[in-house]
Amino acid sequence: MATRAQHFVCQNCGAASARWSGRCDACGEWNTLAEEGSAAPARSSRKGRVFAIEPLKGATHEAPRVACGIAEFDRVTGGGLVRGSVLLLGGDPGIGKSTLLLEVAAAFARGRHRAVYISGEEAVAQVRLRAERLSLSDAVVELAAETSVEDIVATLSHGPTPGLLVIDSIQTMWTEKVEAAPGTVTQVRGAAGELIRFAKRTGAAVILVGHVTKDGQIAGPRVVEHMVDAVLSFEGEGSHQFRILRAIKNRFGPTDEIGVFEMTGAGLQEVVNPSELFLSERDLGSPGTAVFAGIEGTRPLLVEIQALVAPTTLGTPRRAVVGWDPNRLSMVLAVLEAHCAVRLSGHDVYLNVAGGLRIQEPAADVAAAAALVSSLARAPLPADAVYFGEVSLSGAVRPVAQTAPRLKEAQKLGFARAIVPEAARTEAPEGFALTTIGTLTNLVADIARDGTPALRRVGRQDA
Ligand code: TYD
Ligand code: MG
Repeated sequence: MATRAQHFVCQNCGAASARWSGRCDACGEWNTLAEEGSAAPARSSRKGRVFAIEPLKGATHEAPRVACGIAEFDRVTGGGLVRGSVLLLGGDPGIGKSTLLLEVAAAFARGRHRAVYISGEEAVAQVRLRAERLSLSDAVVELAAETSVEDIVATLSHGPTPGLLVIDSIQTMWTEKVEAAPGTVTQVRGAAGELIRFAKRTGAAVILVGHVTKDGQIAGPRVVEHMVDAVLSFEGEGSHQFRILRAIKNRFGPTDEIGVFEMTGAGLQEVVNPSELFLSERDLGSPGTAVFAGIEGTRPLLVEIQALVAPTTLGTPRRAVVGWDPNRLSMVLAVLEAHCAVRLSGHDVYLNVAGGLRIQEPAADVAAAAALVSSLARAPLPADAVYFGEVSLSGAVRPVAQTAPRLKEAQKLGFARAIVPEAARTEAPEGFALTTIGTLTNLVADIARDGTPALRRVGRQDA
């Protein structure tokens, strides 16, 4: 009889190795290797089955979707949940994943679809309490506190197929098919595999909740990300009430849409006009803030970028950034130094995107540069202006996509002018003033000239 092969699996990244070692070779984490049972199935004498091979061209049909009616959620999923698809929702503990999914399940139930919510973390009574707080007690959501995947599948195979099955969370689930402790990578992968098979077999849409590790990966089972059809992340700063739902991967829709929610005493509320919210606490008239006209997916979004540039007391000046890519900040600072004679090497630099939003667009370069120069020169920027444009290493300001919707949104919110790349010249809506800049040097010169409060008023009249 053959001896059972044992192997070691990294609990952080899922890499397997034949020998134990203190440090995972794949991800470099210490003390994460744990012994687990054989992953290789027993050798079978079964011959392969012959299957038909199809041409690329043929009859197709649009994936059937069910929209739940929560517009911000439906937008991020690409118009609703696809039947038989599996979605992974990641996020920090306490960010509101359970709250969001209970609201989604209730919305499904209201739309006369069978919605089942399985909690592996909380007792039924706790979920009921939350439902009461959200005023959802009357929704016909089926509820259970269970962790065995076999039991869940057996129970749900009776009766009508659920339209939606929520599993909160995948880390608490375990399957008998795998010999490993619950929470280990092998077990999470095994449990996810079983639930994915259930979804494909029955056509139920399944949402798995996944916890996020300290470095932002969906905990341990990154492998699960490859198995599911869509990965969403639920983000937000603990101290802000805004929550952002973002698609990271989606086999059935776009990945650049975001949904904006506000956490209130009565649950998550949809935010219909996020720009208004992100600009609601603007500090008018102080130097170091610029409004960026951005695009998230198909939707324009205005946010305030705040910068503080102060003489450093340290040998190496500090660069701290919240909500933006630190590498892009370094690049903008280098361009300002090299091409615009803005000396920042003796200054600490702090950059913050207001409201807890995370910006990924390079189009924010010009707005960040404007905020930085404004802070350094102690010159407030005009309160009625928005900024956007990408900066290249040569200091040139490059055009960005979707100029018209950015400008329209700015006008809708009462802004009167925009500082934009030259290519945007023709796209101004009526009654809206454009200042085009070819290089970052133009921008710095404009701020240095018009920036002081007395002169700024004159500048506004002739614009
Ligand atoms: P929860 O959905 O349990 O987070 P997760 O499942 O991601 O761990 O939400 C937890 C937080 O949300 C908790 O700190 C309290 C807050 N909250 C509200 O502010 N209002 C509400 O109506 C609810 C239900 C929760
Ligand atoms: Mg939870």
